[in-house]
Amino acid sequence: MIWTVILTAVVFMTLSVEHLAPEWIFYAVCIALLYMLIYIFARQFHSKIKAPQWGLIIATACVVPQMVVHPLIQALMTDEEYTGGQVMGISFMVCSATVLLILVISSLIFKKKRPKMRKKIVAGNWKMNTLPAEGVELAKNVAADRASVCECVNFIVCPPFTHLSQVVETLKGTDIKVGAQNCAAEAKGAYTGEVAASMIAALGCEYVILGHSERRQYYGETSQTLNKKMEQAYANNLVPIYCVGENLEEREAGNHFAVCKAQIEEVVFNLTEEQFRKLVIAYEPVWAIGTGKTATADQAQEIHAYIREVLRSKFGAAAEECPILYGGSCKPSNAAEIFAKADVDGGLIGGAALKAEDFLGIGKGF
Ligand code: PGA
Repeated sequence: MIWTVILTAVVFMTLSVEHLAPEWIFYAVCIALLYMLIYIFARQFHSKIKAPQWGLIIATACVVPQMVVHPLIQALMTDEEYTGGQVMGISFMVCSATVLLILVISSLIFKKKRPKMRKKIVAGNWKMNTLPAEGVELAKNVAADRASVCECVNFIVCPPFTHLSQVVETLKGTDIKVGAQNCAAEAKGAYTGEVAASMIAALGCEYVILGHSERRQYYGETSQTLNKKMEQAYANNLVPIYCVGENLEEREAGNHFAVCKAQIEEVVFNLTEEQFRKLVIAYEPVWAIGTGKTATADQAQEIHAYIREVLRSKFGAAAEECPILYGGSCKPSNAAEIFAKADVDGGLIGGAALKAEDFLGIGKGF
């Protein structure tokens, strides 16, 4: 908004010093500034419009009316005190003001229609951190200050298996839910070292993280295994938080859309619509996990919107209700900007979930 005001002021100043500069400079500055003004304004309201469409919108919105408005204003301002440059400038202003008005009105309608009624979720993935006593202490601290964050935020903590039970106990009577970080692909039997979804559910957990990139990378989890794990989760009434995301190489090669699409198609597309309605998705670019490098809010929005589009192609309107969380070096200082984006419904938090203050601070980002 501040930029809009500054640019408007500059446009007016340019108008007033018009006689000092050659006319073509005046035209160029006017056109550039007004187009920038419209661009900034429009981006603020219409984050769903993609970059290639902007050229078309701006060109149509400015150039076409200009062809009509300019001669009209020229006819109206026959007075000699107006130079050609000023007439041109004023007609640009009229066109741009009209375009801005249309954008603001349409964005109000658009905003009202936008169903950002999706659950807001902040989930903490503690990974292989905390001993049982430390985990209980952390859970206690989160619960103690939970009231400082809007009730509209759903908090979930995902401790290691060893203290799931104690953390569930600690959080009884609060609205903070507990999830596991993984579950077995099989229901039960001779699978040494595995923990079945039924066991996790029996402890009072409601969620399970599946397909985290660390599991895909270090433990060879494939879509095939994940399909079985999803089945186990649903069979035991656990809500899966299904993670997708590309690595640095894939991002640099521009393959991030294709990677996320495949991870969704190979697993999520096998769900029934009823199952899908319970699902939470987490987009976690591998290059941002634990690296301190966060995707920018625009990068997150771009891919979240894409993921929703992919989901829509299979599940239709139900895709509007599916929470898509962002994960990867999310912290209190960047959460608000990322969560403000239309298709970002919260975060899956690693490092910052290990301090109650930071974890809750991220919740305040809404
Ligand atoms: P990070 O981890 O917040 O430490 O980057 C996120 C995750 O892996 O879920």
